[in-house]
Amino acid sequence: MAGTIEIRVLARDDDRSGFSCGQRDLDRYFQHYAGQNQFKFRLAVSYVALVEAKIVGFATIAASSIERDSLPSARLRKRLPAYPLPVLRLARLGVDSRAQGLGVGKALMRHVLALAVEQRDRLGCVGVVTDAKPEAASFYRGLGFVPIENVHEGLLHGEPQPMFLPIDTVAAAIGT
Ligand SMILES: CC(C)(COP(=O)(O)OP(=O)(O)OC[C@H]1O[C@@H](n2cnc3c(N)ncnc32)[C@H](O)[C@@H]1OP(=O)(O)O)[C@@H](O)C(=O)NCCC(=O)NCCS
Repeated sequence: MAGTIEIRVLARDDDRSGFSCGQRDLDRYFQHYAGQNQFKFRLAVSYVALVEAKIVGFATIAASSIERDSLPSARLRKRLPAYPLPVLRLARLGVDSRAQGLGVGKALMRHVLALAVEQRDRLGCVGVVTDAKPEAASFYRGLGFVPIENVHEGLLHGEPQPMFLPIDTVAAAIGT
């Protein structure tokens, strides 16, 4: 990609108005809700990727938890206690259409995975969870995420697929 990718926390005065990743709900979230969720309600933090001082992508993360029985790994279900387990939730991820396919998504994910390792060391974290849109599920599978089975019914067509990446895999992926 031309120019290096800088990743930092969203600032109050960042211009988000022109962002467009091709998914209206994600654009709307980033333009209208990412700021208040971060600065007013303290629900989540968004990280932005910039190239030549222009925002080309964002990832929103939040602290969350997962029930042991939802973990898609028999080994982990056997080893871990039966109470809600700390995870980092990747709540939203979007790369501007004009910058897709150039490594921005991968750079944002690398940053998010490094934050999961930091959470592991400071607060505890058994992995990263996300709700993958059907068209992005293979992007996450490529990073090692595995589907969290819906214990009730199968997914409806077009519904997001919950996915999980164990912290050991996270650490191996970023070489820590
Ligand atoms: C999915 C998305 C975040 C990927 O970001 P990106 O910057 O285009 O991806 P990158 O250029 O970093 O690609 C990283 C790798 O993922 C692959 N990839 C990218 N998009 C993919 C997709 N939709 N499905 C499968 N693989 C994908 C690339 O081929 C690349 O593979 P490589 O490392 O083997 O070369 C981006 O395309 C996007 O914002 N899409 C629209 C919104 C969306 O679907 N967000 C996810 C919501 S859950």
